[in-house]
Amino acid sequence: MPPRYSPLRRALHWLSALMILWATLSGFGALALAADAPLRLWVEQFNPQVTSVFIPFFAWRCVLRWKAAATDDSERVAHVVHLALYGVTGAVLITGVLMMSHPVRMFSLFTLPELIHDSAWLARLHQWHHAACMALAALVSLHVLAVAWHHLNGRRVLARML
Ligand code: HEM
Ligand code: HEM
Repeated sequence: MPPRYSPLRRALHWLSALMILWATLSGFGALALAADAPLRLWVEQFNPQVTSVFIPFFAWRCVLRWKAAATDDSERVAHVVHLALYGVTGAVLITGVLMMSHPVRMFSLFTLPELIHDSAWLARLHQWHHAACMALAALVSLHVLAVAWHHLNGRRVLARML
């Protein structure tokens, strides 16, 4: 199958894949470590910075998808899963930014302020971030399995994204 997505959309897709797989595996992996383990502290400091930098790239991706929507996704189920991937990723990013209980120093360049100060709301947002991250992990697994399944059935959808 020839590429169906523009080079820019393909690049942004793989950037999202890298960022989401990294933040999911390292974020959940860190929970298995002691609260004061140096690796866990590093993940908790590094991830909010790198995922915040990712937000404009993800927004850009949403705009490109929006503009092209009419010609994408020949299958209805793929359409639903792709929209859900966008929606749940958006929910993960928004709850992530809102749940910060301290200002985030962005790679020593500038500071993202703490937006919410109420501890009950911070706890609620952490719960929502956690739930949205689990939903995203499930959707991404489904998505990758669907790509593999299509491939094994002779529909080389991967070629459209390479
Ligand atoms: C690509 C998007 C993101 C993914 C996949 C992701 C994933 C995760 C995961 C799996 C966890 C561990 C679950 C938990 O602690 O309940 C987590 C925790 C967290 N995330 Fe995210 N996250 C993303 C974006 C963000 C953003 C944009 C921010 C803030 C700017 C953020 C801030 C946090 C914080 C503060 C924690 C809690 C760490 C702690 O316990 O101290 N995340 N994230
Ligand atoms: C390593 C993991 C991944 C692989 C192998 C992969 C593979 C692919 C392939 C082959 C397509 C084209 C499908 C088609 O045209 O029918 C696609 C599309 C898509 N993928 Fe992934 N993907 C991965 C990770 C992700 C992640 C983490 C997201 C989360 C946002 C994601 C979101 C999407 C979306 C929304 C589309 C629809 C096209 C678009 O709107 O850009 N993918 N993926």
